Amino acid sequence: MKLNIALLAGDGIGPEVIDQAVKVSNAVAKKFGHEISWTPALTGAAAIDAVGEPYPDETHAICENADAVLFGAIGHPKYDNDPSAKVRPEQGLLKMRKKLGLFANVRPTFTFPSLINKSPLKRERIEGTDLVFLRELTGGIYFGEKGRRENGEVAYDNCVYSREEVTRLAKKGFEMAMSRSKKLCCVDKANVLETSRLWRETVQAMEKDYPEVTVSYEFVDAVAMRLVQWPNSYDVLITENLFGDILTDEASVISGSMGLMPSASLGEKTSLFEPIHGSYPQAAGKDIANPLATILSAAMMFEDAFGLKEEAEAIRAVVNRSLEEGYVTEDLSEGAKSYKTSEVGDWLASKI
Ligand code: IPM
Ligand code: MN
Repeated sequence: MKLNIALLAGDGIGPEVIDQAVKVSNAVAKKFGHEISWTPALTGAAAIDAVGEPYPDETHAICENADAVLFGAIGHPKYDNDPSAKVRPEQGLLKMRKKLGLFANVRPTFTFPSLINKSPLKRERIEGTDLVFLRELTGGIYFGEKGRRENGEVAYDNCVYSREEVTRLAKKGFEMAMSRSKKLCCVDKANVLETSRLWRETVQAMEKDYPEVTVSYEFVDAVAMRLVQWPNSYDVLITENLFGDILTDEASVISGSMGLMPSASLGEKTSLFEPIHGSYPQAAGKDIANPLATILSAAMMFEDAFGLKEEAEAIRAVVNRSLEEGYVTEDLSEGAKSYKTSEVGDWLASKI
């Protein structure tokens, strides 16, 4: 199979972790007889520096024409403490999501037996956790009528959802629940917000089409609590953009390391795969960042964008092996010998 992939390394540790994912993907392609064509493109602070714009048209054209996009990270500290900055790297990410129509953000949280002691939660609370959030990604307060100020003193951000936006996201949620344990949780704030009542009403009306799926409706504040009490009681969770942003950061540390969690953003056509972690600028250029989340994102890409499940499993198997054998970067080594980002990538590629 010929795989045409846009490669957006982005900022900070992005280029380093992306390099490792490319090595491992190429090794998988070689083993299974595929041909990958990688097309690099600029995004984030790197694109602002080069062309003054975080998601240039040229990058969009490359992504649109690709079968999938593999993405590193976005963000640079020089913009973080400057609320007056006119162009910000994060705008590139939002523009990309919108223009590529990436409305469903898939963020799993699962545990690795070898890392269970690194979790901030007690073993008995997290053992067996295997949940996945489907976060709506192109609507809600992130994209409501442009945030504005009144006399500089009062600020507005509007949260807007249409039934259609909720339906297409919920459909993916029901389908995912059908392929897993047939449990779906709709996370909202329907006791307060009208948009949440529309979510709930829409999902309730869809239940009859998926009679095998058991649906629960829970308020977002209660979910935030139960996620740290009994994360293993959840399976598929669907929610709106901002709630999903917050809850998926909470969920991402349950496994013991944010450096391990992959994600996918799915749309009507092209889909994008990226690690959940950010650009970690303090580690940029030092060859110490953990590349596993990006490598597991490449695994998701093989499976979800190309339907190549065996290839994805081959990647997951070597990642598990690196964790079991301690061939890991310093964030996971617990004082034992650790390896450089590039060494971990080389090792994984050689074991495929
Ligand atoms: C994420 C990030 C982004 C978001 C930022 C960088 C705009 O936090 O992907 O979760 O809020 O969606
Ligand atoms: Mn976030």
